[in-house]
Amino acid sequence: MKYALTGRMSKEVDRFTIDKMGVPSLVLMERAAVSTAMKVAEIVALFRRNVRILAVCGKGNNGADAVAAARILSWQGVAVDIAVIDDDRKETEEFATQMTIAGNSGLNFVNVSAIPEYDIIIDGIFGTGLSRNVEGIYADVIDLINCSNNVVVSVDIPSGIDSETGAVLSKAVKADATVTFGYNKVGNMIYPGKELSGEVTVADIGFCPEAIKTLNPCMYFTEDDLRKIPDRKAYSNKGTYGKILVIAGSRDMSGAAYLSGASAYRTGAGLVEILTYESNTDIIKKLLPEAIVTGYNEDNYCCMLEKSLKKATCVILGPGLSKDITAHNITEEVLKRCEVPLIIDADALNIIAEDISLLKSYSHVAIITPHIGEFMRLTGLTKEELLKDSVAAAKCFAQEFNVILVMKNAVTVVAEPCENGRAYINSSGTGAMSKAGMGDVLTGVIAGMLSLRIEPFSAACMGVYLHGIAGEIAEEEQGSHSVMAGDVVNILGKAVNK
Ligand code: APR
Repeated sequence: MKYALTGRMSKEVDRFTIDKMGVPSLVLMERAAVSTAMKVAEIVALFRRNVRILAVCGKGNNGADAVAAARILSWQGVAVDIAVIDDDRKETEEFATQMTIAGNSGLNFVNVSAIPEYDIIIDGIFGTGLSRNVEGIYADVIDLINCSNNVVVSVDIPSGIDSETGAVLSKAVKADATVTFGYNKVGNMIYPGKELSGEVTVADIGFCPEAIKTLNPCMYFTEDDLRKIPDRKAYSNKGTYGKILVIAGSRDMSGAAYLSGASAYRTGAGLVEILTYESNTDIIKKLLPEAIVTGYNEDNYCCMLEKSLKKATCVILGPGLSKDITAHNITEEVLKRCEVPLIIDADALNIIAEDISLLKSYSHVAIITPHIGEFMRLTGLTKEELLKDSVAAAKCFAQEFNVILVMKNAVTVVAEPCENGRAYINSSGTGAMSKAGMGDVLTGVIAGMLSLRIEPFSAACMGVYLHGIAGEIAEEEQGSHSVMAGDVVNILGKAVNK
């Protein structure tokens, strides 16, 4: 598990290492500069010819990192110049020091107007210290970089990205690669920042790990974390693992129930029961003979529900459920009666959005999985309001409604329901997954993780991560346009084994 920091947190880690531990600021800066220079040198090698590099610098510590990287490259025999954006902004002490060393080393200082003449730009205009919209000469220089045909390596985060949210603060550099220091930054992980930061390298520059303990940063997973999925016990039977009840489907809508149920089986569930509208039972039995399939109708749903709920260790409610009157009644009944972890998705969320107090009254573990549209309906927020700071919006909702919130988007965020709760930013997945049915698969995967007795917040995060990894494998096998939700179901086993 890794951490992603905001600029504010990053500054605290920096200060802790410098002030409390006594590591000189210039030592950290030298390591940051070496890491940046190494990345640039890697790119230089790809050109197979002499290249010209320009470090474009503001007068803060991000600029100081870039000046130092330029000097290191120059000492290695690479042709590097420096352009400082000179306005009335006061330079930092470190920037002044790095400029003196660069001057002593004989580096050339040029005007920013020369940007298009260079092959590689080191972007050190703003780092995590950016605090307001980019304007004036800064905006002009960013435009010039983006219009020029050079390779751009950003220092820590592309200039113009808000390190807390990934938002563009009016203008931002489009980088091909970003070298970020100590920990990744939230702004490099969430769109549009994720796209603008290109390939991100997290470089260890010697921050003291103690510093992170008081900060509650966002977490993310890498493939190493897949090891946390427990092995299946030899001494076990189907009852050892979860009995998942999938309440899904409606008249003429059977696919969602299948995708959800099959995904729960593929990720570890011992037994899956699908409770669906009676016209779906034959087709679902054919698609998933391993499941117990029970049908209900408008008259008997209450009694069928009661029976099924008694046996379940985890319930999925909502995929393909519709919003008809029976679906309303079922949703209300489940929220009244269910006493095991409940995953609420799709139409059940749309029903709840009409009366949000239903969610507040639920007192057991709930994991809700809205996509952006459903989350907007639940909260009344506009898309712009929501995406302005998706992590904050997710944390706030999770706490207010006491639910584990899985806010599905190109980068899914998971938030824990308590004050100062944890937040998870997903790093797996691919555009190939923007297809109908993927959300139904996710509900099943999260249920599968719960059936392996992973605690609910971690099960939600692991489910989201695993689902994304399965999508990536499916893309490798099928190509990016051709992946369908059913392919991801069938590939889940490969993802679990990874
Ligand atoms: N326009 C002009 N100046 C701005 C703007 C803006 N929109 N926003 C912030 N500033 C000013 C701030 O007042 C501050 O002086 O720019 C500076 C921020 O520049 P940074 O170099 O990002 O901030 P700083 O805190 O000095 O350095 C943080 O240093 O540890 C390294 O690279 C690492 O990203 C990190 C950076």
